[in-house]
Amino acid sequence: MEKILVTGGAGYIGTILVPELLRLGHKVTIYDNFMFGAQTLLGFSAHPNLSIVQGDVRDADKVKEVVKGQDWIVHLAAIVGYPACAADPVRANSVNVDGTRNIVNAMQKGQKLLYASTGSTYGKVLGIATEETPINPLTLYGRNKRDCEDMIKQTDHDFTLFRFATVFGSSPRMRLDLLINDFTYQAIHNKQIVIFEGHFRRTFLHSMDAAAIYPFAMSHWDEMNGGTYNVGDETMNYTKREAAQEIAKKVEYYLHEADFGTDPDARDYEVDYSKLKSLGYKAKIDLSAGIDELIKIISVLKITNPLRNA
Ligand SMILES: NC(=O)c1ccc[n+]([C@@H]2O[C@H](COP(=O)([O-])OP(=O)(O)OC[C@H]3O[C@@H](n4cnc5c(N)ncnc54)[C@H](O)[C@@H]3O)[C@@H](O)[C@H]2O)c1
Repeated sequence: MEKILVTGGAGYIGTILVPELLRLGHKVTIYDNFMFGAQTLLGFSAHPNLSIVQGDVRDADKVKEVVKGQDWIVHLAAIVGYPACAADPVRANSVNVDGTRNIVNAMQKGQKLLYASTGSTYGKVLGIATEETPINPLTLYGRNKRDCEDMIKQTDHDFTLFRFATVFGSSPRMRLDLLINDFTYQAIHNKQIVIFEGHFRRTFLHSMDAAAIYPFAMSHWDEMNGGTYNVGDETMNYTKREAAQEIAKKVEYYLHEADFGTDPDARDYEVDYSKLKSLGYKAKIDLSAGIDELIKIISVLKITNPLRNA
């Protein structure tokens, strides 16, 4: 049984990951400020191996207390996505960068850090993005993540950096701002999707497969310690238009391609996942199955707030 701290454990990825870690027999502490509420924990809050601590990653003393005695630190807490970061840059810098510094400073020798970075750090890429491709983030969100990657690499801690594809699929802390989730919502409830830059290539990963990288890394630690990994699957590289067409196979809606609109992250890239694949990681849920699942839940989900990060 390992002791695992999950910052941001009440979030979209965290609420899928934590029950899985508990199921595997680990002792888990969630550290979260619950900016989206704590009701996302109700499905597994009764588990005896789960502790819940309300706190902010910007609170260095409290971070030090929760990090103490842990074997693993899964650092998910963040202001996530470029719109949320742009909406309040001061908060984004302090939570994303200063918060990560507090984690890093609180860690002792032998503790292991699993850091959630993003493919958005690549910015505009010519060709296929491998972990060796120079990163060139174009938004504050991407720059925050790059700065944290650099900060972590400069420590003597044991760590792994994950550059996630854009995640999709359902979660107890649903996010409708993610591209596939958003498109599916629009198709079902508005009967239309307006896309711009339809030929732009994006890369996706189901929320359960994103969570699955954590136990995978724990069991492949000798190989993965100190490494940076693109987390995704090359079968999940689609253009935005192709992704919309996958939804059109299942939901009747009008697809409108607009001439206006740009992605500030300029995400138009194909990502190479062979480094992770060579260790045996494989995404289990493809886009079609994920869309089926989203249609099932989004059709009946009562949207009382927009479920968007910004
Ligand atoms: N979902 C994706 O597509 C994706 C892709 C790439 C990287 N990531 C990274 O994965 C991590 C988790 O993302 P998510 O999709 O679950 O996002 P999320 O917004 O659902 O979860 C973030 C969690 O962090 C918590 N949090 C925010 N500020 C905090 C603070 N100051 N102190 C303590 N807790 C705080 C929130 O309450 C929330 O529970 C993030 O670091 C994100 O950058 C996600």
